Amino acid sequence: MSALSKSLQSSNWREYHEATKHSVQSLRRTPHVLDWANMPDPFRHYEGVPVLDLPADPPLSEQPAADGSTYLSQLLFYSAAISASKLVPSTGFRYALRVNPSSGNLHPTEFHFMTCGLKGWPDGFYHYRPSSHMAEQRAIGDFRDVTGSDAPIVFILTSIAWREAWKYRDRAYRYCLHDIGHAWQALALAAQALGCDSKAIVDFPDDEIAQAMRLHEDEWPMLIVEIRGAACEPSAHETVWYGGTANQLSTEIVPYPRIEAIHAATKLLVNSTIEPAPAGTGEVRLPPSAKSLRSFGEVVRTRRSALDFVGGTQSISLPQLSALLAPAAPLLSFVQLYLYVHRVDGLEQGVYRFWPEHAELERIKVGDQRVAAAGLSLGQDLAGNACVAFSMVGDLDRAARAHGDRGYRSVHFEAGAVGQRLYLAAEALGLGATGIGAFYDEEVHRYLHVTPEQGQVVYHFAIGYPIPDPRLQA
Ligand SMILES: Cc1cc2nc3c(=O)[nH]c(=O)nc-3n(C[C@H](O)[C@H](O)[C@H](O)COP(=O)(O)O)c2cc1C
Repeated sequence: MSALSKSLQSSNWREYHEATKHSVQSLRRTPHVLDWANMPDPFRHYEGVPVLDLPADPPLSEQPAADGSTYLSQLLFYSAAISASKLVPSTGFRYALRVNPSSGNLHPTEFHFMTCGLKGWPDGFYHYRPSSHMAEQRAIGDFRDVTGSDAPIVFILTSIAWREAWKYRDRAYRYCLHDIGHAWQALALAAQALGCDSKAIVDFPDDEIAQAMRLHEDEWPMLIVEIRGAACEPSAHETVWYGGTANQLSTEIVPYPRIEAIHAATKLLVNSTIEPAPAGTGEVRLPPSAKSLRSFGEVVRTRRSALDFVGGTQSISLPQLSALLAPAAPLLSFVQLYLYVHRVDGLEQGVYRFWPEHAELERIKVGDQRVAAAGLSLGQDLAGNACVAFSMVGDLDRAARAHGDRGYRSVHFEAGAVGQRLYLAAEALGLGATGIGAFYDEEVHRYLHVTPEQGQVVYHFAIGYPIPDPRLQA
């Protein structure tokens, strides 16, 4: 065992978070060259198992479809499927983009699900294959014992950290967690649009679940999402495992002991009382939200990350800002939203803190924030050219007091989930959005005067008028 692996054995969230902060010095100290020949395949397949068709291009209905395969097809088509591609003109290389966003488009998240009693669909345990919108049937039978849930559909979202670490190295674990948060909301909102309910479960025995799912060792269970409300019928299937062989994602897997260590630390289950989130008020009361006429199905299927924003003088209205913030508000528990307001009609340029309880904004700083927002986001212009950019500050200490190291996961899931709602709210208004995982952590704290007791920055975000991307193909 290496000295680093040994010293990481007693690692906790605080050490991991400190060690993966970006600073000008840290980026200069450890430049990284991508090994393209060893890039992990973004598609996992469990080979050698029956593969079940999901009806193509299912229309979205407000009621769950009567038959299981159409319902599952709808759920996955509007939460996890491929929705566009990009063509790189210089090489002719085409790559897929999905309904759910992902840092670097690397997609560390895999969607597994168990079904029981869905009409016309065999009970069993499945892995979603986005490359062909099909379900790999890894086993048939009743698997409700695995999670203890009696819901007819139970998703288990897993992360393949290596996919993300290939590019982002130790910081990749943070992005895997964000990604799960995005995927969770993608699923939850698709279920809601289909007239169903969902519930996320963050505390479960990781190793037992991984074993029961016969997961390849590079996949880690991260979040369970129950879906209720689909049409069901009595069923009884004998359990038969097909299992399947997981495809190899790259020639070599480079180990990242720091990621192994934080993952191990966050496996421990601790549940104490959650202290209430701080409450506050602000001088700006947000008006009622602007309305969108776009359908949910159209919004999720056309959502894209903007490469950059137009900048210039085009602004958004205050009711549009309300419509961006309102869907995120119910999720805010460990995460606080700070806004860098560049161009919102009727709102002075500056930094504001959003207080969700009464939909109010508290002014923290006045003046043009464009250079600051871009600079803090690792010099990415899009945070300055947006109409509004965000720092999400996570109360990591309060989460750790409630859930131990596992609270670190919850805070990042929440940030990703808030990001997913911001993406969709922006798209519904005809705007563009981009999640930003790269920022100078301590610089953000200093700029916003955020003390460690208040929290630490966990995610950035930007919304505005997107510049067109000529590589994009529907
Ligand atoms: C957690 C997370 C972090 C991201 N960080 C950045 C970033 O720092 N800069 C950027 O330009 N895009 C970032 N993105 C956007 C991704 O690059 C984008 O989602 C991916 O390329 C797929 O494109 P799509 O969102 O259009 O499907 C991030 C996305 C996520 C979910």
